[in-house]
Amino acid sequence: MSEVAQSPDDERVAASSRRSAPWPTESLSFGGDYSPEQWPWEVVLEDLALMREAGVNLVTLGVFSWAVHEPREGVFDFTWLDRMLDLLHENGIAVDLATPTAAVPMWLHRLHPEILPQDRHRHPLAPGGRLGWCPSSPVFRGYALRIVERLAEHVAGHPAVRMWHVSNELGGGNARCHCPVSNARFREWVAAKYGTVDALNAAWGMAFWGNTYSSFEEVTTPWGETAHNPGQLLDYERFSSDELLDHYRAEKDVLRGLAPGVPVTTNFMVGLGPDVVDYTRWADEMDIVANDHYTFGPDPLRHQDLAFSGDRMRGLSRGEPWMLMEHATGASSWHRINQPKAPGELARHALAHVARGSDSVMYFQWRAPRSGTEKFHSAMLPHSGPQSRVFRDVVDLGAHLDALAEVRGSTVASAEVAILHDNEAGWALKSGLKPINDLRYADTARAVHNALFARAVTADVVAPWTALDAYRLVIVPGLFLVSDENARTVHDFVEAGGTVLVTWFSGIVDEVNTVRLGGYPGAFRSLLGVTSEEFSPLDADQSLRLDNGWTVRRWAERLREPAPDDGAEVLARHTEGALAGGPALTRRRVGAGAAYYLSVDLDPESLGALVDRLLEEKEIGPTAVVSRGVEAVRRVGDDASYLFLINHSEDDGRAEASGVDLLTGAEHSGIVSIAAGGVVVIREHGRS
Ligand code: GLA
Repeated sequence: MSEVAQSPDDERVAASSRRSAPWPTESLSFGGDYSPEQWPWEVVLEDLALMREAGVNLVTLGVFSWAVHEPREGVFDFTWLDRMLDLLHENGIAVDLATPTAAVPMWLHRLHPEILPQDRHRHPLAPGGRLGWCPSSPVFRGYALRIVERLAEHVAGHPAVRMWHVSNELGGGNARCHCPVSNARFREWVAAKYGTVDALNAAWGMAFWGNTYSSFEEVTTPWGETAHNPGQLLDYERFSSDELLDHYRAEKDVLRGLAPGVPVTTNFMVGLGPDVVDYTRWADEMDIVANDHYTFGPDPLRHQDLAFSGDRMRGLSRGEPWMLMEHATGASSWHRINQPKAPGELARHALAHVARGSDSVMYFQWRAPRSGTEKFHSAMLPHSGPQSRVFRDVVDLGAHLDALAEVRGSTVASAEVAILHDNEAGWALKSGLKPINDLRYADTARAVHNALFARAVTADVVAPWTALDAYRLVIVPGLFLVSDENARTVHDFVEAGGTVLVTWFSGIVDEVNTVRLGGYPGAFRSLLGVTSEEFSPLDADQSLRLDNGWTVRRWAERLREPAPDDGAEVLARHTEGALAGGPALTRRRVGAGAAYYLSVDLDPESLGALVDRLLEEKEIGPTAVVSRGVEAVRRVGDDASYLFLINHSEDDGRAEASGVDLLTGAEHSGIVSIAAGGVVVIREHGRS
């Protein structure tokens, strides 16, 4: 990772100056969400024995236990918790203790129905479920901080408590609230941001359709069914994220004061963006950055989805180890169809997260419940009990993680490729009408990442304000919104010798969601030396050929023929339709570097060919020479480097590497075989 990074506030901070929080376990953390309050004590005793058998060393306790700790308003009872903490500690299992604020007790709903979040039709959610609270509600905040305070006071100093887990998946259900309190807070937020109504009208372009405000009093959250202003929509997303972050900070402050030295985190839901809240701007508030990641069984590229999320997590943690807080041993239960993992996939997925920088393998959940909404969600200990294939796999995985203990604290080897990703670009993309209205942010990022994955090239997925000097190739994939400063960072990177690939629909709007005039892609036009005049999207059954044989789908643009002064050369042209003869792919040499503009959406094969060209030009090689279907990622520690080789294919695979396989003890010299569906982790000779 780059040494110096720029925060969203433009304040430059050295990555190395980030506080290094103590990790909750000595070796890699292994365990999951544990809900013993749902079971009788004899089951709890069986759990502890089975956890020991599996090598579990960390559990997340108390996520949904508010009603246990405070069964009635103002009545606190920590007897159950005390017993659980002692038992876990006696069994050598550390605790990631949750504040229970995701689970509002029914008595609180009865006393204060006004805390329920309201959907965009201004209908309150019903009590039950979870996260049934408005992020801006002072009433809820008061009750929440009181239970957090009592809990932290009570357990302070208990040796089992090694980490704090604030609430659960903040925003998972309550991220957007339209209640009167949220409306009032949104008005305050908007007024604080813009100062005057005129500035607000100008920023959001309210003159369009004559929606001009005469007072901040007229501002509402974008509720109901109407075509809301895109500036308002984008700011409402930012506001909603800020309100939840404020809640996190309030809980964290209480925990910090009462239990200093214990790291505090909350579990993100980083998958394919945009995120429900702005994790990119939240991450620095976490002592350890943690994620919940779930794959979708029928998705043939699910391991690549996992890799993308892992590379994003590493970007969020600025290269430091991050924590996989939850994933699944098998099926989840919220999809249309929920399929178990294929044989061997449990280990492949777990170790793929570790390969990409996680120092933990945690699951939702330890034991499958027999009742409740998620009673069919998979677990480390399934309904069928310890004789099951899943539990045997869990025990084997525990042994593997034990064998990999020395990997903890190492970091993923510096990537030479960065992919820029910003939730605000995703939020802006979905605000207002577009040439294609079902574009998904990060699809292009994911397509490029897939191409790199297939070539065993590791990329960091980072915020656009990251210092880019340490990279050789930067991808700007459909970065619809970008600030002048961030566009400048890309420009400076190229001047200094880097290569950038900017793809279609990047740099289109500024931070207030206003189109940059003079031709697309506004923010990058001068860097690229191109001007795009018109978008020309393609329907699902349409495609176009370029003169180099590449195939275009979904998106094309009318690019003006570059003038000699523009400095851009045309590398590929359209051959068909209204755009025939026009430029599709360009390159401009800038300073010591090069800036490519891809104005079309390419099919995977053609995109792969472009990626090959860029890698070759920058002399960026694979992490290891591997056969098809083998994922290769390297972690580097103080004394050794570790090559993770994960074979996602149904054929036996090979890699060029030498060293000892930490999972089997086998020595390899030159060539390593990886059985179909298998994993090998090599402590490499001759590298450190
Ligand atoms: C999320 C939650 C868990 C559980 C799992 C599985 O990650 O944090 O409490 O609901 O999903 O659905």
